[in-house]
Parts: sequence; C-alpha cells; structure tokens
Amino acid sequence: MKTSGLGGAWLALVALAALMAPTPASAEEPPLKIGLLGGYSGSAALFGGQLDAAIKVFMEQRGDVVAGRKVEIIRRDTTGPAPDVVRRLVQELISRDKVDLITGFDFTPNALAAAGLSTQAKMPIIIVNAATTEILTNAPYMVRFGFTTGQAVAPFARWAVKNGYTRVFAIYTDYGPGTEAGNTFKRVFAEAGGTLLGEVKPPLASPDYSAYVQRAKDANPQAIFIFAPAQDHPTAFLKAYKDSGMKDAGVKVLATGDLSDENQFDALGDPALGMITTYHYSESHDSPINREFVKAFYKVARPGERPNFVAAVTYDVFNAIYKIVEQQNGKIDPDKTIALLKQYKAEGPRGPIAIDENRDIVQNIYIREVKKVDGKLQNVEFDMIPMVNDRGVETK
Ligand code: PHB
Repeated sequence: MKTSGLGGAWLALVALAALMAPTPASAEEPPLKIGLLGGYSGSAALFGGQLDAAIKVFMEQRGDVVAGRKVEIIRRDTTGPAPDVVRRLVQELISRDKVDLITGFDFTPNALAAAGLSTQAKMPIIIVNAATTEILTNAPYMVRFGFTTGQAVAPFARWAVKNGYTRVFAIYTDYGPGTEAGNTFKRVFAEAGGTLLGEVKPPLASPDYSAYVQRAKDANPQAIFIFAPAQDHPTAFLKAYKDSGMKDAGVKVLATGDLSDENQFDALGDPALGMITTYHYSESHDSPINREFVKAFYKVARPGERPNFVAAVTYDVFNAIYKIVEQQNGKIDPDKTIALLKQYKAEGPRGPIAIDENRDIVQNIYIREVKKVDGKLQNVEFDMIPMVNDRGVETK
C-alpha cells in the first residue's frame, strides 16, 4: 500500500504519541507489591492501627492504582521489638512474596534487623518510625520519613535553657533511640548552660518507673527530661510521676512527643496536662492539609483511635511511593528510587518535609504543651524550629 508523504508523517506521529503516552491503568499490569511491617498484636498494636488507617485515608483520596499498577499491601506483624521475627518476615517478603518495596518499621531493633537484607537484595525500605540516626548508616537502600530522636531533642534542649529550665534530671530508655535522645540532650543542654542533676536509663522490656522517678525526685529538679517509646511506657511513667507528688509540686515534664501520643491521652488522663513536648506532628497542627487528613482519619479509624505521628508519616510515605512510581512509569528500580527519594520534597499533614543526601528526613520541629481543647487533650503547638535535619541542625 502506498501512502502519501503527509499520511506517512501522520502515522509516524500517531506511533510516537502511543509510545510516549503514560501507561494506562490496566488489569494486565502486575500489581505493585508493598510489604508493610508494623505491630499488629500485643502491646505494639497501636502502630498497626495507625498504619492501616492512614493508608485507607490516602487510597480513598488517590485510589489504589498508580501508573497502571494496582497497589497490593502485604501486611506483616512485627509483634513489637522483635528483630528475629522481623528478619524472617523481611526475608519472606523479598524471596517468596517478591515485593517491590517495604515500608512500616516501628522499633529501632526491627529496622536494624532488616538493614543487611535490604542491602543484599537492593530492596528499598522506607522507614515510618524507627528513630535512631545510625539505622541508615550502612543501609544504602533505606530511607527514613519519620524522625530521629536527636532531631527532636537538640532544638528542645536549647529551648529548655532559654526558657529557664536549667536544673534538669534525665530519664531515657536504654536502647538506640533513648541513648541518642539522652546523649543529644546532655550535650546540647550543657552547651547552652544547663546543669544535669543526674540520669537513669530504664530498660525497654519492663516499664515500671517508680524507682527511677524516686531517683529524679531525690535530685530536686526543676524539670524531668524523658524519652521513652510510645505505647506502655508513657502511662507507667506518668502514673509514677503523679504518685511521687512531683506533679503537684510543679516539677515540669519535658519530653519527646512519644510521651504525649494523642492515642494514649485517654489512658494518660489529666496527669499529662502541662507536659511540654518536642515533635514533628500534632493532631491539632493547624493547616488545611492536616484538617482534611484528621477528618478523613476519624471516618476510617477504629472507634477510639486518634491520628498520631505514625499515621501522619505513613500518609507522607504513600504520597512519596505514588510519586516515585509515577516518575518511573510504573517501575521501582532500586537505585533510581533512592536517587529520586534523595531529592524528594512535599507538604503533608505535619507541614513541609524533605529527604536529604543522607536519605534522612528534614522537617519542622514543634514545641507543644498538653492542654484541654474542647474537652479533649491535645498537643498545642506554640513554637517551631524550621527544617531541622536528622542531626538536630537547622537547615533554613
Ligand atoms: C524506636 O524504637 O526507634 C522508637 C519506638 C517508638 C517510639 C519512638 C522510637 O515512640
């Protein structure tokens, strides 16, 4: 068949357009498999509920197909800080389920347990919560979207001295994020002119705080600085603090936001009032994106569940996953994925975020006070340190 010159050019154009068109959503594309690791049982079950609700919110807004691939979530229970369980689960996700990417990760020991497997298999892992800086050091395919305890604590230690809290006793859980929180607090607090009256390091396993709180009381501090992981530690600490009489005597609690997780306010009750905390997300953060996020969260969450830092970060993680899959036309190439994430910037429920060259999160750190708002305990933000990196350094 003979075509005119013009007709030939036209056909070539049509062919070119077809080549350049984005892949349409089609049932023939294989699903995009995302491994999701979180606590879904025992005392860590709070994490799993937050992960699931945030993903539901995101998918209701954005759908469950990205660049033509249906998103399939393969969810696994870490059961709490359990590195051996997590190593086995990650191995199965990689070799049996053949996932494209893994996200979640609640506790530091779980993320550390996955680092070697991620490197060997070139498996991109996006950390939602595990908060020790060191996790990423030898894990080139890991990226963190949550926070580091050093990031939250460094500006807070400066804030404490500036606001007259100069005689402080420190309590921090004896494992990765606690050690980082405690060491950062001690260093920055001393540089700013504060006096540390003493410190204790309760173990991760048995959160009975009465003896530790008594040690703090004996030192007669103006304030206690505390890091402990969210879940059962905060209630145990606050009970001991109240029983010790220090709350009534006006000894302030200065903590990371793990202690004032919105989800635990019912259990913490009024002893939490007046606590000052430093963190990357509050349910009451006042922005249009967050107001919409919170409203949508309550529609899908289980009764009694409130959006916390895990939910806000998970929403940001899925926003990023969709973006990088679109940028790669439906694929996830490990090296390209990490290169793209290193340049990632977005606005989410917690405010602006960026990922830096170290594959770590840069974000605003908010100083908040626990107050009753419309009959509900909330972390009310009253100060903000802009775009702090994982080492606690302001980048803006
Ligand atoms: C951690 O293990 O890194 C961790 C766990 C719970 C938190 C914060 C950090 O609330």
